[in-house]
Amino acid sequence: MTGWLAIAGLGPGSDALVTPEVTAALSEATDVVGYIPYVRRVAPRPGLTLHETDNREELARARHALEMAAEGRRVVVVSSGDPGVFAMASAVFEALEAGPPEWRALDVRVLPGVTAMLAAAARAGAPLGHDFCAINLSDNLKPWEVIERRLRLSVEADFAIALYNPRSASRPEGFARALDLLRAICEPGRILIFARAVSTPDEALRVVPLAEATPEMADMRTVVLIGSSATRIIPRDGAPFVYTPRGVPA
Ligand SMILES: C[S@@+](CC[C@H](N)C(=O)[O-])C[C@H]1O[C@@H](n2cnc3c(N)ncnc32)[C@H](O)[C@@H]1O
Repeated sequence: MTGWLAIAGLGPGSDALVTPEVTAALSEATDVVGYIPYVRRVAPRPGLTLHETDNREELARARHALEMAAEGRRVVVVSSGDPGVFAMASAVFEALEAGPPEWRALDVRVLPGVTAMLAAAARAGAPLGHDFCAINLSDNLKPWEVIERRLRLSVEADFAIALYNPRSASRPEGFARALDLLRAICEPGRILIFARAVSTPDEALRVVPLAEATPEMADMRTVVLIGSSATRIIPRDGAPFVYTPRGVPA
């Protein structure tokens, strides 16, 4: 049997947002590897082994997946959203680079998925319609000073910004500090979108000016979109539309 490894994005939650390419890879796989809640999104079937691992074991999980592919198994490593956005694709390539030279000849493919910021932006309108960037607010893998500097410079460059991993039970204070920083450098009317559990039954969207934003509005299932200075709201009955114009006046 010729083994392969696909690193696949399952999208933000809804089955409707899983790409046909990912569905096809899962249907051919012998093994699925990933963080517990993501592996549980894959339907069990005869001939498929599901390997659920803890979130802190990314590199070990990546090595295990590569070992199985080298043994001839058809392995899918699953991430939520897109696997290249704060997820498993980088971990697999890190393990591959450090591993035995034979691993470089393996059939390894990355299958894109709908990342949280794009699903959230689509729900709100088009807040990422002009230049934007994404910042992971977790300081598990980088110092807080780096996060703060990137946030400050992104605002200075007037990007719209997507904040992933804004707040967790073990890191309650980081997002509060990020809001303090934003308040120091942005106008109080700057538009923030708190998009929680997008495309799942728990989905909730909240559009608020910076002056009204509180740390409790975000949790680990939330992606926070911060508008640029040009981002606008179209009020209407129900949730407003939010968009960023396509151009910047000269
Ligand atoms: C470790 S990152 C993984 C990102 C993922 N690879 C992606 O492309 O969306 C986890 C963070 O993604 C965001 N996220 C993932 N799914 C989401 C959803 N359905 N709704 C809102 N945010 C989501 C949250 O900020 C969460 O803390």
